[in-house]
Amino acid sequence: MKTHENTRQLVRKAYGKVAKKSVSCCSGSSCRGGTASDASEGELGLSCGNPVTFSKIKKGMTVLDLGSGAGKDVFIAAPLAGVKGKVIGVDMTPEMLKLARVNLLRFTKRTGLSNVEFRKGTIEKLPVKDAEADLIISNCVINLSPDKQEVFREAFRALKPGGFIVVSDIVLNRELPPSLKNHAGLYAACVAGALRRGDYLGAIKAAGFKGIKLLSDNIYRAEGGCSDPTASKTVKALAGAASSITVYARKGR
Ligand SMILES: C[S@@+](CC[C@H](N)C(=O)[O-])C[C@H]1O[C@@H](n2cnc3c(N)ncnc32)[C@H](O)[C@@H]1O
Repeated sequence: MKTHENTRQLVRKAYGKVAKKSVSCCSGSSCRGGTASDASEGELGLSCGNPVTFSKIKKGMTVLDLGSGAGKDVFIAAPLAGVKGKVIGVDMTPEMLKLARVNLLRFTKRTGLSNVEFRKGTIEKLPVKDAEADLIISNCVINLSPDKQEVFREAFRALKPGGFIVVSDIVLNRELPPSLKNHAGLYAACVAGALRRGDYLGAIKAAGFKGIKLLSDNIYRAEGGCSDPTASKTVKALAGAASSITVYARKGR
């Protein structure tokens, strides 16, 4: 029987490999993958949106990044939050955390900022106190969780009243055939585990969030996932089946 921990282990293994090779994995035209040369900290971006751009981060905010990977969004958010603010990245994959912490040394040297912290943990049981964050961002991660509802409940718990989430993710526009739905490589490539759009927005609402709105919505064009080269064969079957969206929602009225 496949348990939630089995699923996390599959994902951990895939992203452990990605971190070691520093190659893009969550691939597709809606996903930004990049290697060392793309970013100032030399970090790896495995994203499907740009939550920081939509977040209007203010000085002094505490920002939490769910599934921070090598830290790309964390390093963009940290100068915006400034010396009085803080950015916490959470990830469960040891190799990713190692990469993020190497990047953090470079970031600190370049900016002089010491407002970034990476914590090991799962997004279903966040290693943060209640009401610790003003803002929660996430980029192409929640689709990988075996329990998305729990992720949104945890996000709600971790936010201060009046705080908000801005999450970019993959959602499905139609059901995938069982052969794709149960495809481990396609799961790790951010597609097979994705929820139907209505279910995703419903899970945010069920967690208690208000004011839910879509900030971006683009058809996801798969190009084949690097964690499983056979995924490229599914490109046709996936046409129009998934979108990369960015969603805003707040805790409170
Ligand atoms: C597609 S990458 C995205 C990384 C980063 N957000 C970015 O945009 O570059 C997914 C990341 O989420 C992490 N991850 C996946 N599922 C997770 C979970 N349940 N709990 C914590 N981290 C998770 C993986 O280890 C990996 O680093």
